[in-house]
Order: sequence, then structure tokens, then C-alpha cells
Amino acid sequence: TTVEWEAESYDMGGHDTYMHKEIFEQADAVDRVLRGRIDDRFSTVHLGGLNLDAREARGVRRIKILGCGTSYHAGQIGAQLIEELARIPADAEPASEFRYRNPVVDPDTLYVAVSQSGETYDVLAAVQELKRKGARVLGVVNVVGSAIAREADGGTYVHAGPEVCVVSTKCFTNTVVAFALLALHLGRIRDLSVADGKRIIDGLRRLPEQISEILAGEDEIKRLAAEYAEAKSMMFIGRVRGYPVAREASLKLKEVSYIHAEAYPASELKHGPLALIEPAMPTVAIVPDDDLLEKNRAAMEEIKARSGRILAVAHQVQEKADHTIVVPKNENELDPILMGIPLQLFAYHTALAMGRDIDKPRNLAKSVTVE
Ligand code: AGP
Repeated sequence: TTVEWEAESYDMGGHDTYMHKEIFEQADAVDRVLRGRIDDRFSTVHLGGLNLDAREARGVRRIKILGCGTSYHAGQIGAQLIEELARIPADAEPASEFRYRNPVVDPDTLYVAVSQSGETYDVLAAVQELKRKGARVLGVVNVVGSAIAREADGGTYVHAGPEVCVVSTKCFTNTVVAFALLALHLGRIRDLSVADGKRIIDGLRRLPEQISEILAGEDEIKRLAAEYAEAKSMMFIGRVRGYPVAREASLKLKEVSYIHAEAYPASELKHGPLALIEPAMPTVAIVPDDDLLEKNRAAMEEIKARSGRILAVAHQVQEKADHTIVVPKNENELDPILMGIPLQLFAYHTALAMGRDIDKPRNLAKSVTVE
């Protein structure tokens, strides 16, 4: 069965498209995923439905995250958060690839299936294959009572609310926040200190206001989108925390504008993609103010030396870039949650300028319930 939102039954609230409406719902959505879960006394969070007690959680030696498309990208950030905060080796993989390679299922690995709809066939089939082999599978899902939520051993809902636009925005953000909560929970059971737990909680609490601040910059982003809309192809780069942000931003642009886009780790540029750089191929660079700032600046310098145009998303104006969208700084670990948001608006306004069917891009369906 497929759970589809009845698009007509939702009030547009003054927005012309669901994508725009959903982008602007993100501050409230993040507030919702945090609500009732923070435990200030122990600087941790409670996730009621995990069905994983502290002793079992301590026995987890690896975490494998499975999803498709945007949910897979959210899972990539999730894996980084888990490694950083809980120091459990974690990685994300497209669910479809996973299930077709006869995966080695290890009893000490915790599997996490990520899905907005909870109905994506490839993810569901991966969960069923894992369960058949005796693995423990958690779901990080938006639609309550969906097939993946029912099939999983436990998990957490991301509480993004109904997402109607085929292109996922607010659910991506909430899924990453849900992973931050899971990582914090697992971290505080292990070696994450009370002080670090508090630092992350304070950072999470700042997110809704910072999201509103980013969205208030829409006019400037719209102007930039008009400037880059004539590009035939765009490059998106980032490193470590910035790389999944680049991948997701590239997917957003492709889906709504049909402009070809590629995402690469900035460190890989010199191993091939630098050959593509020329004035007609602009680059969007994700440049957080963290320990890789200088490395990112060096990558931008290489692009400038090939006459490439650069739009940076950063915490301070980047001199090497032609334009910078400045976003508010949070804790290093949580920065990826904020850095993709202006690029959702960038994709939206690019598509709008090109007259695209934003809520229903050609060839795409909201939930892919077939193989
Ligand atoms: C997102 O913008 C996409 N249209 C698509 O990649 C989507 O994320 C993917 O099909 C997975 O869907 P799910 O989260 O409902 O499982």
C-alpha cells in the first residue's frame, strides 16, 4: 500500500507551491522533533520508541544506515553525527545497493532504515532481508504507521508533518535532527561528557531561530538564483560535514530545475573533476567555519585559478568566492543542518525562474513503491 498525502486537503497558507510552504515550515518542524525529548538533568534525550535499552545500546559495535535519495543523504550526515558524538563506526548506503549485494549481516551491527514516506520499496525490501537474517533494525521515518515503521523493531518518528512536494525539504532537515538526537542519546550512554551533551542540546535549541534567520534572507537568495539560472551545469563541493550537504543540494537543484549538477568532495577535485571547471560551470562550495576552513579555501583558490565562478555557503564572507550566502554558526557537528537550507531556496528560485513544475517535477513520484 502507498500512503499519499491528500494534497488538496492542506491549506497553502499564502504560499504558491508546497515546496515553498514546506521550506518555510522548517523552524516549526524542528521545534516539533525536539519537543518533549530533551532531558536537561542528564544532558541527554529520550527517544521513546527505540526498544533498545542502555545495555543493548552499549553492545552495538557498528551502525549501518540505509535509505534512498534525500533520506540517504540525511543518513550520511546521521552517520557522521553518530561517529562524532557516540564514537560508534557508522556509515550510510543506498538501500537498493545494499540489498542486492548479499550483505554480511553482523549481530553486533545496528541497522537504521530512513524514509520520509515509510513506503519506499527498496528500503522496505532491505529491512525485510535484514529481519529475515536476524538483524535488529530501527526506523527513522516520517509517516506514522507506514510499512517501514511497522516492519522495524523500533525507531523514531521525525515529526516533519505532511510533506506534499515531491522534492523533500523539511523532512530532510528533521531527519538529520532526529539523527542528532539518536547520536546524542547513544553518545551519553557511552563517552560523551555531560558538558558536550549540554553543548549539543544548547545547539539544537538554537536551530529554529537560526532557520528563521536564514529564511529571512530569501530575497538575496532569489537574486543569486537568477544570476546562476543560465548555467547548463553546476558543481557542488564540500568536505566531510559539508560533503553530504553538497550532495543533497545538488540533488535538489537537479530535481526541480533540471540543471545538471554534480557533487564532489572538495578534496577529490584535483583527481579529475577540475577538468570541468570553466566560467560556464559555476561551483557551489559548502565552507563551514571549522578545522577544514583553510582546506576549503585552497579548493576555492584552485577553482578561481581556472576562471570558475563560486557561490559559497559559509559562516563568513569568503574572499575567494564571487558570492557568499552567510549562515548563522552553530556547533560544528550541527552546522550541516543549517547549511543546506539556503540551497533549498536557491533550487526553488532557480526552478521558478525557469518556469518548472516545482511540486511535481517530470519523471518523479513522491514515494517509489516499485523496484
Ligand atoms: C527527494 O527530494 C526525492 N524526491 C527522493 O530522492 C526521495 O528522498 C527518495 O525517493 C526516498 O523517499 P523516502 O524518504 O520516502 O523513502
